[in-house]
Amino acid sequence: MTLWGGRFSQKLDDLAWALNSSLPVDQRMAIQDVDGSLAWADAIHKAGILSDEEHASISLGLDTVRKEFASGEFSCQPSDEDIHTAVERRLSELIGPAAGKLHTGRSRNDQVATDFRLWMLQAIPELHSAFLNLQSALVEQAELAGEIIMPGYTHLQRAQPILLAHWWLSHYWALKRDVERLQDLTKRVSVLPLGSGALAGAPFALDRDALAKSLGFAEVSQNSLDAVSDRDFAAEYLFVCSMTAVHLSKLAEQVVLYTTAEFGFFELSDAFSTGSSLMPQKKNPDVFELTRGKTGTMIGLLTGLMSTLKGLPSTYDKDLQEDKAPVFQATDTLLSILPVMAAALRTIMVKPERMRSAIDSTMMATDLADYLVEKGVPFREAHSLAGKVVRAAGEGKVRMEELPLEAYQAIGPFEADVYQVFDPLESIKKRNTVGGTSLQSVKNQISKIKGD
Ligand code: ARG
Repeated sequence: MTLWGGRFSQKLDDLAWALNSSLPVDQRMAIQDVDGSLAWADAIHKAGILSDEEHASISLGLDTVRKEFASGEFSCQPSDEDIHTAVERRLSELIGPAAGKLHTGRSRNDQVATDFRLWMLQAIPELHSAFLNLQSALVEQAELAGEIIMPGYTHLQRAQPILLAHWWLSHYWALKRDVERLQDLTKRVSVLPLGSGALAGAPFALDRDALAKSLGFAEVSQNSLDAVSDRDFAAEYLFVCSMTAVHLSKLAEQVVLYTTAEFGFFELSDAFSTGSSLMPQKKNPDVFELTRGKTGTMIGLLTGLMSTLKGLPSTYDKDLQEDKAPVFQATDTLLSILPVMAAALRTIMVKPERMRSAIDSTMMATDLADYLVEKGVPFREAHSLAGKVVRAAGEGKVRMEELPLEAYQAIGPFEADVYQVFDPLESIKKRNTVGGTSLQSVKNQISKIKGD
């Protein structure tokens, strides 16, 4: 059955039918389609389109359809063009010709946009709790890390010592922005298109505000042409998923790096590592590599939808049917990687001694310059004098803290207390500004996070 056909003398070609059918994808919105139809039946009943009996029969029939979907009993037919057709076909099998009144004033154009938004409104909280779980894993690791220190990098070159806890939390804050974006997006998803008809609106007195309220939407769309074509929310959603994936990929890349024999900062638990079919010794970080890899696919989903939307004429065009698959795929991807990342990170074994031994005294060269600044030397000059110390140590093939005081004093106004500069924990302690790596700053971050 199709929801159209009166004006055609030939049935749709089989190949064209296969191309046109969206049921394999949009059947994921079955419950939303039934809920939207139940609310629509109420609205057109109130508007005087359905009699009390017709309304009761349609509602009862839709309840049955809903139950059939929920229990898995619903059977889609090859003749169902999409989920909207499947629901209406089943309703007419259950209640007869009264089913034909349900679509009065409605088009699949406003219907599909409504179903899609309803679907997203239930997906967002699911994603949100997966985010929270990963964020908690990061905070737990930060708390466990205590005073463990590690090298901080810029350009992937050793830069300054930092607390491991500070590193864990850096990933927390990135995810927090993703959660905020997800929450902010909700207000643009929560706009009801139903009542926009095919493009021009509905021809009878419809209380769209009540309709919105009954479906849990915050507001109704204000322009029917825009309402049936607006897929900004889908593009934004894919952006949030992509941004999140980029953050996860960045974290994953560092875990991959830190678990190499060369770094040896982390060891993955066996439960989250994989082996090689050929090399018996291998322990591979596949979970993290897949996270990194799936990010590429995720960005493809975003750019794919943006390209589909580009240049579409106003209102509904069939191109818009391409909107759901990327959103579903992005959701499935995130819902598979977020929990695995959380579990894998919770079981990571940290190697504090490896991190400590990767901190060499050149990483305190900035502290050496700061030492001179405290003695009144302008920073630019202090930077250059500290650089000379780095060079002298390099030339003498000794560590900076092994250079004798005379060597220091030949370079600048250094005194015997200069050697204190080379304690990495001291360097860390000094960086006590809000957001710095000091123990106190990190504690403050954790209390702020917990107070949120
Ligand atoms: N399956 C369609 C979609 O997902 C439903 C809307 C069909 N509208 C139409 N005018 N053919 O977009």
